[in-house]
Amino acid sequence: MTSVSRIQRLEALEIIDSRGHPTLQVTVSLSDGTTATAAVPSGASTGLHEAAELRDGDRARYGGRGVRKAVASVEKDIAATLKGRDVHDQVGIDEHMIALDGTANKSRLGANSLLGTSMAVAQAAAASDGRSLYAHLGGEAATLLPMPFMNVLNGGKHADSSLDFQEFMLVPLGAPSFAEAMRYGVEVYAALRELLRARSLSTAVGDEGGFAPRLESNEAACAIIVAAIERAGYHPGRDVAIALDPAASSFATAAGYDLSRSGTGILDREALLALYGRWIDTWPIVSIEDGFAEDDWTAFQAQTAAHGARLQIVGDDLLVTNPTFIERAIVQRAGNAALIKPNQIGTVTETARSIRLCQEAGWGTMVSHRSGETTDTFIADLAVGLGCGQIKSGAPCRGERLAKYNRLLAIEAELGSRARFANPFA
Ligand code: PGA
Ligand code: ZN
Repeated sequence: MTSVSRIQRLEALEIIDSRGHPTLQVTVSLSDGTTATAAVPSGASTGLHEAAELRDGDRARYGGRGVRKAVASVEKDIAATLKGRDVHDQVGIDEHMIALDGTANKSRLGANSLLGTSMAVAQAAAASDGRSLYAHLGGEAATLLPMPFMNVLNGGKHADSSLDFQEFMLVPLGAPSFAEAMRYGVEVYAALRELLRARSLSTAVGDEGGFAPRLESNEAACAIIVAAIERAGYHPGRDVAIALDPAASSFATAAGYDLSRSGTGILDREALLALYGRWIDTWPIVSIEDGFAEDDWTAFQAQTAAHGARLQIVGDDLLVTNPTFIERAIVQRAGNAALIKPNQIGTVTETARSIRLCQEAGWGTMVSHRSGETTDTFIADLAVGLGCGQIKSGAPCRGERLAKYNRLLAIEAELGSRARFANPFA
């Protein structure tokens, strides 16, 4: 099935993402005539230990956010060494780029340059074989569609709403298929819009397509989501549950966890853990991501000890899709699931390594978009290809968010009776 197809040309382009910031697109051309393109996303609440995006720093263009240097990394440095390589040698290509960069955080050539190339290489290898990307990544075993986590209320750094917590997500865990899960989520999202309108609250959306209203408290967000689930005709907890991404690094201060935007005040680690405990007793919350700051390993350990048996505890900024951090967290029992964002680590090979580490440890894996996105759908195929079981790609609103969900609908249809879908919390 796989014949040798060699990389002939790499081209990069500065394009614009969903927040109006420049980002990188990479096109790989092969000796057999195949071409494939991938575009790189970009976060706002980025973890301290993420691989580094290369940006120009030239204030005269895009406030310094231009990516012409990353374009040059791809077209000069990376192209010069990848030309003539077998496109199917993903591991060799990725390791070669990592060595060529030579830094611990990929800051010389840029994680954006490496990831764009790495994703385009995978797409090109799949296309060259006439296979779908998920099948190229996972073979015959790639049949599990992920549970979608839809971020319907946006706060934190993603919106100027009243919410300290960044993301309030719907989890349609009672649905029998991915397509039905999307329907549940879309119907609850519509009901939420009606409820907000009825209360004369804003239905304008944040970076990830969720509503960004001025609610009276963080708790009010959970209450209105439960009301929306019921209004849409679903049973909270059984059909549709709630997941949170407080993104706590964004409100961690020297004085403690500062929830004053919503009027809650400043809480220490113990008080915030107690608040999460009350919340999971009160609302059908199945997953909390980054409930504590990225350097507060003690808090993640305490949360895992206290709630880990009945709650998914996801590390995002804590783990930054980095195998070294994930290994440490598994050993130290700091969480029980990892968020998987390819651009936090910078290559497809390292992303796959992180996923496998989690799977071997019995940890959950949630593939994730970034708040700054394009219509690239790589992560949809990644989730199915490596059997991750969970994905978050924002609300069912805004084209760059729907591109991933719609790709998953197409994958489910393509798999037909081979497609599997499961509640990861059953
Ligand atoms: P980001 O947010 O893409 O802005 O970093 C997503 C997240 O925190 O999960
Ligand atoms: Zn997060």
